[in-house]
Amino acid sequence: MNHNDFKEQKPFRLVKFFTFSALMVMFAATIVISVMNAHWVRNILQEKSEDYAHLLVANLNHQVFLQFIIPAVLKYGKIKLREEAQYERMDRVIKTTLHGFNVEMVNIYDMKNTIAYSFDDKKKGLKDIGGAGYAMAIKNQANSRLIENGNFFQLLLGIPHQTKIVTFSPLRAEKPLSSVSGPVLGVVEIIQDISDDYHKIFRLQLLTVATCFGVMAVLFFILVLMVRRGEMIIEARAMERLRLEEKLQRAEHLSSIGEMTAGISHEIRNPLGIIRSSAELLKKKMAKAGQSTTIINIILEESIRLSNIIKDFLDFAKPMNPILKPCRIDEIIEKNILYLSQQIQENDFIVERQFAKPIPETMADSEKLYQAFLNIILNAFQAMSRGGKITIVLLSEDHQIIIFFHDQGKGILEESLKKIWNPFFTTKDMGTGLGMGIVKNIIESHHGTIDIYNRDSEGVTVKITLPSNERKF
Ligand SMILES: Nc1ncnc2c1ncn2[C@@H]1O[C@H](COP(=O)(O)OP(=O)(O)OP(=O)(O)O)[C@@H](O)[C@H]1O
Ligand SMILES: [Mg+2]
Repeated sequence: MNHNDFKEQKPFRLVKFFTFSALMVMFAATIVISVMNAHWVRNILQEKSEDYAHLLVANLNHQVFLQFIIPAVLKYGKIKLREEAQYERMDRVIKTTLHGFNVEMVNIYDMKNTIAYSFDDKKKGLKDIGGAGYAMAIKNQANSRLIENGNFFQLLLGIPHQTKIVTFSPLRAEKPLSSVSGPVLGVVEIIQDISDDYHKIFRLQLLTVATCFGVMAVLFFILVLMVRRGEMIIEARAMERLRLEEKLQRAEHLSSIGEMTAGISHEIRNPLGIIRSSAELLKKKMAKAGQSTTIINIILEESIRLSNIIKDFLDFAKPMNPILKPCRIDEIIEKNILYLSQQIQENDFIVERQFAKPIPETMADSEKLYQAFLNIILNAFQAMSRGGKITIVLLSEDHQIIIFFHDQGKGILEESLKKIWNPFFTTKDMGTGLGMGIVKNIIESHHGTIDIYNRDSEGVTVKITLPSNERKF
């Protein structure tokens, strides 16, 4: 699996899809519920408005009867609205009664469906325009209906530009001191504009939908963030797995090479030993006979070099099982220096020790560490010219022992640094390129770490950390 394969898989795609669909369904459901809710509120509003209109008309009926009909009959003997004095009195009674009740229009019809009184002067005297509302009211049945005005979309969405309620109610004579009404005298039509109430409902509906939409958007945004984060984590894990798989493959490959090399090396070692001892024997004989030993010396030197290479191969290929015993790092380093003293003298190398005291004992395989340090110091010597200095620093902190090997050699190219742990990577004519690989194996078998980097000034630093004795490993 590579990076692109992972991208194509998108493990969260299904989650995203389902959650998105769920949010959409919730959103649609909220809209439906809010529309139903608004419809319900509108019905209630209509019922209330109707009840209210009927009450208003009943009150108007009462006031008209008390303040107009009775006085008019007493004063003029008969009701004649065509007479200005009577009309004005009626107008005053109606306007004071309805004052402040938001009534847009009042029409009063007589028994013959003719408008006898109206807020609109032009309507006075018009005949037969009461319609079904009038017809019901004259039969003593009060009734109301809604009138909605607006364009097609406004009416479709239930948000008419203007909403009016038209109420027809019988105008009846009252019997004083009795709850029973008298005969129907005419019909009152009142028109109220209730657009404002309707617009308020619509605003509430809009607010509900907008809030719901906002909440959905926030939820979706959070979800997208979570999914993205999840994907990133999974991607990182997939990459890590990929890296580990590659590492494992490489390790398996190396281990099979190692096994093969170990097998071959083992087979070569015995015949090589025979060649070497035979060559030594021959050399002694030739020396005794006074013959030149130049060629036999070459054979001897090369067979020694070959046996060293084989030893390195075997060291590298062998599984590293250190035998842990309490030992002291500073003592191991002293032994290295002692072993190398002749080489140090010949090349005028300076070895500076900066050992912190006290250095705790460490559970380690001293022979293996000796070999690791030797490889590091030899690399440093091989990189330095005559008179170079190697500084070995030994510290103990936080349950760890830290060892630095600073040299004054020629340093390492950046591209070589990346390959330094690869077996067989060498820049030397006579090197096997196994030295640092062996060192890494040894340090890691001790649960330690190793790092190599160029120094700011000159040469390189090899840094090793090892767990100290206080910690069990
Ligand atoms: N202290 C150092 N200064 C400069 N280069 C170094 C140093 N240590 C290692 N190197 C570089 O890293 C390479 C690999 O080192 P490594 O010890 O694994 O192999 P080698 O020294 O080449 O061969 P061998 O150790 O088998 O003789 C070296 O060839 C050298 O280029
Ligand atoms: Mg080396």
